[in-house]
Formats: sequence, structure tokens, C-alpha cells
Amino acid sequence: MTYDLTLRIWRGDAEGGELTDYVVPVEEGEVVLDAVHHVQELHASDLAVRWNCKAGKCGSCSAEINGRPRLMCLARLSTFPTDEPITVTPMRAFPVLRDLVTDVSFNYAKAREVPAFAPAAGVQTPYRMQQVDVERSQEFRKCIECFLCQDTCHVVRDHEDNKEAFSGPRFFLRYAELEMHPMDTGDRRRMAQESRGLGLCNITKCCTEVCPESIKITDNAIIPLKERVADVKYDPLTWLGSKIFRRGQRGGESPPPQDVPAGIRTQADSGAHAVRSESDVPDDPSFAGARVTGGVPNPDAADQGSTTGTTPSGDFVGRVSGQDTGMDETSGGEKRALAEGDETAGGSR
Ligand code: SF4
Ligand code: SF4
Ligand code: FES
Repeated sequence: MTYDLTLRIWRGDAEGGELTDYVVPVEEGEVVLDAVHHVQELHASDLAVRWNCKAGKCGSCSAEINGRPRLMCLARLSTFPTDEPITVTPMRAFPVLRDLVTDVSFNYAKAREVPAFAPAAGVQTPYRMQQVDVERSQEFRKCIECFLCQDTCHVVRDHEDNKEAFSGPRFFLRYAELEMHPMDTGDRRRMAQESRGLGLCNITKCCTEVCPESIKITDNAIIPLKERVADVKYDPLTWLGSKIFRRGQRGGESPPPQDVPAGIRTQADSGAHAVRSESDVPDDPSFAGARVTGGVPNPDAADQGSTTGTTPSGDFVGRVSGQDTGMDETSGGEKRALAEGDETAGGSR
């Protein structure tokens, strides 16, 4: 069945913009991204939209459809009334570059703040872990970095001034994953609470509701992370232990730092190895993945983790498609050391 659909798209840039109606012929089985492409083809070739896989896997086509943060390539037209306009606007939590394309470099900055996976020095690889630990982190590794959860979180959505202090649900997911990793020796709990804004989250679960990968961000990551923070900050026995430990430190070395400057952490407690920044979010344009059609020239792209920019051929490049910024340091695959039925070698923390 073919019918005429009215698409109401926000057009503009950082200076301002407005909703513009376009009527396009659409077919049964198409998605909102198809309709946007029809608009580009028939009415507005300069309409800027970021996309790549059209399969819900690259995380590029995030936008707000009828006010709800969604992937355009997964929003089937058959789920909308045919006689009403569909409104498509850019993600509200991030600065607009042009039309439907936003500057998501905030997220790359937050990714860089996560101290990297820190195995004990000399630990044997491939790692041997209990299957339950493997499965727990595998849920978190499904993240496609669409940043819809970041967009929907009310802590930053309507409060720009919270951005500096708040990493957001996507990165609480990462802190939780590292915290739950039996091979990791780092302790990011105080950091998460005191300088990454975990305490600002009031577990409304809005982030979970919009996640296209159905990751239970709040139940499986944020709440367990909050519980672990409570252990270290508010458990009276832990508090007593820290007092005794500190007394032992008097006249000697000061206790290891609980927080670090962004990016760098020295594992003073685990055998001295310095760990580089959590993610090498590339400034290298060769990482370019997502296409941005319609054009958003951005001379600052090199400073924005390749969020947008231009290739020599004139195509616009997007962020690393589907790149999970947390795995760089183990690209050899050590973290995925799955050994079904294996006994743990490191034990859970
Ligand atoms: S649960 Fe927390 S992180 Fe998720 S949207 Fe609500 S306040 Fe934000
Ligand atoms: S956790 Fe879900 S919503 Fe958030 S960035 Fe990852 S895939 Fe997107
Ligand atoms: S184009 Fe929609 S997730 Fe890749």
C-alpha cells in the first residue's frame, strides 16, 4: 500500500529553526528514516541527517519522533496513524549542528573520563571468569552508543548546567561494568558518586525505556552501582576499616587516591601500572563511519571525536559507527575470554 505521509521536520541550525511540513509518498514496511530520505530526494536535498546502517546497529540515526527519543531506522511507519503528521526533531539534550544532526561530543568527553579496565599486573590471559560474570557484562556490551538514554535523562535534558558534573546513564553502564568485572582492580565507586554525578540519578528509568538494545540500564547497572557506592561510603564496617587503615598509614604513605584527574589512573594498589584513558575516541578521520547526508560542514570536527567532518571526497563523516569506546585497551579480545564452566581465577569483588 502506498500513501502520502506528512513529515514535519525541524530545519535550522544553532541560530534557530522551525518545523517544516513535507508530503512524501511512502510504502508499507518503510521506516521513518526512509521517509526522511524521500524528503531529501523529492523536496530538500540539503536536509541534514546522520545515519549509516539502517539496521539499528550503528547508533547514528537518533532523533526525537513525535517527541520520543528513538532510532529513525527502527521506527516503522505502520505503527503511526496514516492521517497524522509525524514530527521529527533533533535530540534535545545536545547542541544542534544543522537540521536533525546534533553535536554529541559531550558523550565522547564523558567516555574519556572513565578510567580504563585495570587488570592486576601479570595476570594470566586469556582470563578465566565465571560465566555469570561474563553474561552480566555482555548485556552492557550491547550498547550501540546511540545516546538516546543520554538525551532522555532529565538531569541534563533540561539542565545544561548539570552536564559538567553528570556522566549520564550510558557511562554509568560502563562504570558498573568495570566495577562488576572480576579481573578489574580499579575502584571507581567514589568517583562515580562524587565527581561523575551518580547521585543526581533518581532512578526514574526513562533511560531504560528508550534504549533500543533493551539494556536494563537502571535495574542492572545504575542501582547495583549505587548499592556498591553505599557499601564504600556508608557501610559502618567499611568506615571503621578505613579508619583503622588510615591510622596504620599515619607517619607513612598516604592512602591511595580515590579519584583521579580525568583520564589517567595509576594503580598504586595493584602493582604499579599506569592506565591510559578509557577510550581512544579517535581524532583520526579514518575511523569515520556514519554518513551525514545533506551536509554539515564542521571545521571543528577534529576536536569533537570525529562527530562530523568532511572526507576528501566531500562526504560527511560521522562518529565511529557502533564503536564501543570501552574496549580499546583489550582489542586483542582478552575481555571476551569466555570459558564456559570455568572456575573463576580472580573472584568477584
Ligand atoms: S534512571 Fe537516572 S540516568 Fe536514567 S534517565 Fe532517570 S535519572 Fe537519568
Ligand atoms: S545504553 Fe542503550 S540507549 Fe544508551 S547509548 Fe547504549 S544503546 Fe543507546
Ligand atoms: S542508521 Fe539507525 S542505527 Fe544505524
